[in-house]
Parts: sequence; C-alpha cells; structure tokens
Amino acid sequence: MIKKVGILFGMEDTFPWAFIDKVNELGKGQVIAEPVQIDKVQQGIDYGYHVIIDRISQEVPFYRAFLKNASLMGTAVINNPFWWSADEKFFNNCLALQIGVPVPKTILLPSNARPDDTTEKSFRNLKEPLDWDYIFNYIGFPAYMKPHSGGGWKSVYRVDNPDDLFAKHAETGQLVMMLQEEIIFDDYYRVYCLGQKYVHIMPYEPRNEFHLRYVTEPKTTGAEHQKLMKTIHDYTIKLNKALGYDFNTVEFAVRNGIPYAIDFCNPAPDADIHSVGEGNFNWIVEHAAKFAVEKAKAHTLKQNNSSWGSFVKNSAAPVKPKTAKVPLKTAAEAKKSVVKKTVSKATSAKPVVKKKAAPKVTKKAPAKKPVAKRKPVSKKTK
Ligand SMILES: Nc1ncnc2c1ncn2[C@@H]1O[C@H](COP(=O)(O)OP(=O)(O)O)[C@@H](O)[C@H]1O
Ligand SMILES: [Mg+2]
Repeated sequence: MIKKVGILFGMEDTFPWAFIDKVNELGKGQVIAEPVQIDKVQQGIDYGYHVIIDRISQEVPFYRAFLKNASLMGTAVINNPFWWSADEKFFNNCLALQIGVPVPKTILLPSNARPDDTTEKSFRNLKEPLDWDYIFNYIGFPAYMKPHSGGGWKSVYRVDNPDDLFAKHAETGQLVMMLQEEIIFDDYYRVYCLGQKYVHIMPYEPRNEFHLRYVTEPKTTGAEHQKLMKTIHDYTIKLNKALGYDFNTVEFAVRNGIPYAIDFCNPAPDADIHSVGEGNFNWIVEHAAKFAVEKAKAHTLKQNNSSWGSFVKNSAAPVKPKTAKVPLKTAAEAKKSVVKKTVSKATSAKPVVKKKAAPKVTKKAPAKKPVAKRKPVSKKTK
C-alpha cells in the first residue's frame, strides 16, 4: 500500500517544497508527499493522510481542529496537536526540573490586564500584593520577562530593576508572563530534534542581527567541547521524550559549562534556508523527510499513530515512580520556613507536617487595582 505524507504550512516557502521533494525521493514510490489539500472538514472522516507535518496550526485554530480529527482517524500528526494545545513554557520548565534538565529560575506572573469578561471578583484567590520581595530576591536583576506561551521573540523583555519591570509589565495586557533569571552566557546553542532521536546542534548568537544568528562558532574546543555537546544532546533527547515532540528546537545558554534550557517549546521551528543557512537547512530537510517516511511505513490502521511524551504516558499508565533529580519544593520550603518533624507517639516514626489554617478567600471584592499590583520595593531588593 502506498503511504501518503502531507504538509500543512503557511507563509514559509523553502522548507515545505524541499521536504516534499525529499520524501518523494526517499519514499521510492512507496511513500509520497504533497501539500495537504482541504475542501471540507467533516467530523469522523479520514482524509487519507498517513502522516501530516504541521507547520502552522499554532496560528490557525481551524487547522488545529482538523488535525485533532485526523489524529483520531489514525494520521500520525507531527507534532501531536493534543499535546501542543495543552503545552506552554512555564509547564515545560516545571517538567524540566523534574527530569533533571537545568533551567533558569522562573516565576509566573498574573496578567497585568484582566482577561475579558472577568472582574476583580474573579481574582479573589490572588493575594494582593504579590510577594514581590521574595520574587525579586529569588530571580535577581537584570532579568528576562517573556510570555508563558508564545514564540518568535514577541513580548520578550530584559528588565533592569523593579520599576523597569512594572513599566514593561504594564505593556503586556492580558499576556501571562514569566519572570526569569538572566543566564549570562559564555556560549549559546539552538538544537533541532526530530523523532526524539535525530539531533543537530547549531551554534547560535542571539545578540547578532537576525540573518547572522547562525553565523557563529562554538566557544569551546577539544574534550571540553565534546563533553558539552554530549550533555546538550542528552538534555535535548530527554526534554523531547518527556514532552513528546517529534519536531522541535531547544535553545541552551551555557554558563560555567552548564547548558540551561531557555526555550524548548518550538514545535514549528524556523527552518527557512535564508535564516538557518544551507548546511542546517539540508540537515532539517533530510531528517524531517527521513522521519516522515519512517512514520509513514510504521503507520498502523485504526490506532493512534501520533507520538505522546513520557509525561502523558506515565500519567495515564503510571510506571515505577522516579525520584526527581532536583527535588521539587513546596512554596513553604522555598521560603525556607522550617517544618518541624515530630514523631507521632501513637504510630510510626513518620514525620508529621503541622496543619496550617486554610487560606482565607475574602468574599468582598477588593478595591479596584490591577491584577498584579505593584508594591513599594524594600531596600534589600534594590
Ligand atoms: N533567561 C534568559 N537568560 C538569557 N537570555 C534569555 C533568557 N530568556 C530569553 N533570553 C534571550 O531572549 C531570546 C528570546 O527568548 P525565548 O525564550 O527564546 O523566546 P521565543 O520563544 O520568543 O524565542 C532568547 O533567544 C535569548 O537570547
Ligand atoms: Mg527562542
């Protein structure tokens, strides 16, 4: 049976056509590729693609819904539209901590403007003001502030101090932002990862002009460089296996020899020959096509053929619990408050955590304030 690969794309004009040609070459008549063609989308109908590479549904909700139906019908959608819909950067950082991949210290901030159709009353669970002293001491300055879900450098700010942060936060409207420790890096890499197994590490200089960002050299050599490349390779695989992405890039900022994962939620990463350069373009075309052909050949009728990450798989069918490499902390632990370990006389020697009174939820709506209200900053955070 001939297997069919489709590609769904938007304005990009180099990768899709090269990908189609490469699949048709590698598929040797057994696997063929074409742009996805849609003239209607009816529920529960299989439109006949064994594999679809999705490069655009993050911008087109109609396509995302089409792909979920296709996935249900058995199409291997790259990347899995269900996971992509659920995912965002803050969660990814939390997951990275759990699997032992270093990430910058990060705090989630409530949006500056309230979401449409909400009132102050909708935010009674949020303490006013936030614990800014803690947040500033934890993150430090300068810091990065960026959307918890997004990409393409949109609304990414570098902030120098609390006043700067509040001024820039006021520009971000309803976006939920993350405040993040700045990694002052010696070296930076952008890494393609396909099928959770093919890895291509590209030296990247984010401080260069857009068209020169991939025109840079690694800052290390010899054994030190080999070791760094191995660590970056392993972290990239680990992250993509946990998240379940088959097509992604991971960015790492290297500080004192440690690669910190900065941005690893790029399920439709830039693959344009004019920005990534010919060598990187050839790699991504070759491996995307190779992987699509593998997926097409492995396609099995009447089953889900899209990939799922270990986070979802283990949650749905738990495997032996693993101890987090970096133990996750409770808010109370983070505050370094001491939890007394007392031994229950009656039973075992299990530590008993003191019961706390439940936090109060005020019934009265608070006075009019922005959601993330600014508080005068104490001297120690300046
Ligand atoms: N914590 C950080 N430390 C240092 N640089 C950062 C940090 N976060 C972001 N940057 C810089 O900002 C750029 C854009 O941020 P990124 O998280 O990659 O957002 P986007 O998804 O929009 O590309 C990065 O490529 C990097 O150069
Ligand atoms: Mg980025």
